[in-house]
Order: sequence, then C-alpha cells, then structure tokens
Amino acid sequence: MLPRDVILTGSLILRPLAKEDAEAIVAMCGDPVTARFFPALPHPYEHDHALAYLDRAGRRWEAGGAQFAIVEDGRPCGLLWVSPPDAWNVVSVGYIVAPWARGRGVAATAARGVTDWLFDHGLRRVELQAEVENVASLRVAYKAGFREEGRRREARRLRDGRWADYVLFARLRGEGTPAEEPYLPFFAGGELGDGVVRLVPMAPEDAGDYHRMMAEPSVAAYSLTPPATLEDDERRCRYTGYWWASGQRVELAIRDAASGAFAGHVQLMQVTPVLGQAMIGYSLLPAFRGRGFMTRAVRLLVGWAFANTSLHRIVAGTDAGNTASHAVLERAGFRREGVQRELFPRPDGTRSDDVQWALLRPA
Ligand SMILES: CC(C)(COP(=O)(O)OP(=O)(O)OC[C@H]1O[C@@H](n2cnc3c(N)ncnc32)[C@H](O)[C@@H]1OP(=O)(O)O)[C@@H](O)C(=O)NCCC(=O)NCCS
Repeated sequence: MLPRDVILTGSLILRPLAKEDAEAIVAMCGDPVTARFFPALPHPYEHDHALAYLDRAGRRWEAGGAQFAIVEDGRPCGLLWVSPPDAWNVVSVGYIVAPWARGRGVAATAARGVTDWLFDHGLRRVELQAEVENVASLRVAYKAGFREEGRRREARRLRDGRWADYVLFARLRGEGTPAEEPYLPFFAGGELGDGVVRLVPMAPEDAGDYHRMMAEPSVAAYSLTPPATLEDDERRCRYTGYWWASGQRVELAIRDAASGAFAGHVQLMQVTPVLGQAMIGYSLLPAFRGRGFMTRAVRLLVGWAFANTSLHRIVAGTDAGNTASHAVLERAGFRREGVQRELFPRPDGTRSDDVQWALLRPA
C-alpha cells in the first residue's frame, strides 16, 4: 500500500483528500470541460456526488492506489489520483485542474511529481491515458515526461453515444524523459492568414467540406488512397490536435478570408525530426482555383514552419502530369530535385512518375 504522504512538487502541495474538499470537488467536476472528458461523471455534479467521491477516495487508498488534492497557495485547485495496481504492479494516473488554475503547468507539475513519488515507492511502470481530442491533457502527458505507446481505438463511450479514441502513455522508472518542448508548436494566435486566405486547424465541422472535396474527380485523380467514408473523414478531423501535439502532422483548412468559406486543405506530414524534413500536401476546391489561394497557403505554412520549428527541408511530390501543382510549388520557391519513375499507381493499372521538390530553410 502507498503511504498517505504529503508531496511537495514545484510550488504545489499534493495531500490526501479530506472532507473539507467537497465544495472544491463540486466546482472542478461540475465544469463543462471536465464533464466533456469524463463521460462517466454525473452531470450536473452535486454535493452528494462529491461526498460519494470522497468515500471512494478512501477505498482507493485501501486498495493500493492514491487520491490527492492539488493545493496551490493554500487553496485546492485540482485532483490527482492513482489507480490501484494491477497484477503486474502497474498503475495509472489521472487528474482534473479547476478552470481558474488551468494553463499554468499545474497538471504537468503534479503528474510529474506524483510519478517520481511512485517510482520512489517501488513502482516501475506508470500509465496515463487521454482522449485524442483532449489536447490540454496530451500536452500534460508530454510535459510530465510520459512517452506515447499507442492508440486505443474506440476505448470509451461519450455522453452522446459516440465512441472515442484514446492515446496511451507510460513512464518507466529510470528511463530518461523526452523533451518537453513540442517539435511542432501550435500557432501563436490559433491560425495563420494574409488577408486573402486563412489557415485554420482542421476541426470535425470541416469533415463534410473536406469529404466533398476529396470526392471531386480532379482531386480524387491524384489521391493515393481509396475514397474514405464521411465517418472516416470526421475521425480524421478529430485527430488534428493529437497529430500536432505529438509532432506528427499539421492539418489545416484553407478558408477564404473574405467569406470564411472552406476553400481547401493543406498539411505538413511525414515529419522526420532526425532529418529536419517534412512533406507538404494540399488540395483546393475547383471554385477557388486560379486565384493564387494555394500559393498563398503554401507560403504561409512554410514561412511558419521555418520560423517556428527546426525543419530544414520541406519537400513535395507531385504527379508528373499535375502542372497546376508544379506552378504552385515554383511560385512558392520550391526547386525541382528529381523524378521517381513510376511511383504512383493509377486506377487503370498504369503508373505515373513523381516529380520531387524541396524548399530549404532560408539562410
Ligand atoms: C487537462 C487539464 C488537467 C490540464 O490542466 P492544466 O493545469 O491546465 O495543464 P498544464 O497547464 O500543465 O498544461 C496544459 C497544456 O495544454 C495546453 N492547452 C490547453 N488547451 C489547449 C488547446 N485547446 N489546444 C492546444 N493546447 C492547449 C496549454 O497551453 C498547456 O501547454 P503548454 O504548457 O505547452 O502551453 C485541465 O484542462 C482539466 O482539468 N481538464 C478537464 C479534466 C481533464 O480533461 N482531465 C484529464 C483527463 S485525461
């Protein structure tokens, strides 16, 4: 059993929960963001629910787990718990931070501190899970030194009946912790723009527009994957924050700045930190072609990437016959580097050549 310690970590104190915490628990668990990411919590959340929670917290300690109040400046500002160990002595941690204390590193500091404490008490593996759309919690996992181990598809059911995917993280005792700084930082103001186009992170609301665009024959002609269902595209849009936070991809809707309409999609993918290289890809709805939208979008994205990441090369691959796309890359400053012969399989069984392009980090 774990000792009912008081843990000091950074400017925080983690202490076992007490009866006096009931009101603070109501405030934290009644918050809509908490309700969104803890679908099993009662909603609305009332005083009796907090009393039942305190009761379960006591039993959690008795079963070998732990349950702390996170206290900052003498005031409870969060909850942190450790599940009882499984047969292999593996535990998992979870946390909630009160709305007024979010965005200041409370959860990351507490999760890192409690995990170090668990290692001091003989545990060797500590797990953490976050829903793919819970970007704040994903960031907490990375900042607390956890490594991603994979995804658990449709692991839990949300209040609206939809099944949600989760990311599984773990820290092992004695293992170094990865860099806390993200390889791909989020856009400082949430989006990029030049007055004509806006680049906005893809969201589930974009799934319908994206789906229709990908089915458009002039777009589908250059797609390497079979047509996705609308459900697949919706799932893809829910992954934007996770892909970004995990340094895998940036997925953006291109919006017409004048009307706000969805005009297309641009992405940074195949991010390879060891090479400092990523690939750009894009598609535009026919109604927005011929107005320089994609050249603007590509310029904005590569400009951001070179200014905010350590990427050195941004590459692109285009079908040899896709002259409109060649013109976009040339206008955005890319240089032709070569041809991969017969790379792209075509629906009719033939293959077409791939022209390779690259833009180097400006000196
Ligand atoms: C998840 C939660 C505990 C985070 O608490 P916190 O104390 O604000 O966490 P931290 O300040 O340590 O880190 C939050 C990070 O997420 C980032 N973040 C928050 N919302 C974000 C968003 N919508 N998009 C991108 N990043 C976001 C913050 O900027 C910060 O990262 P940074 O330090 O790199 O800037 C809090 O939001 C919460 O209680 N949510 C409801 C309950 C919950 O989801 N619990 C976890 C279940 S797995």
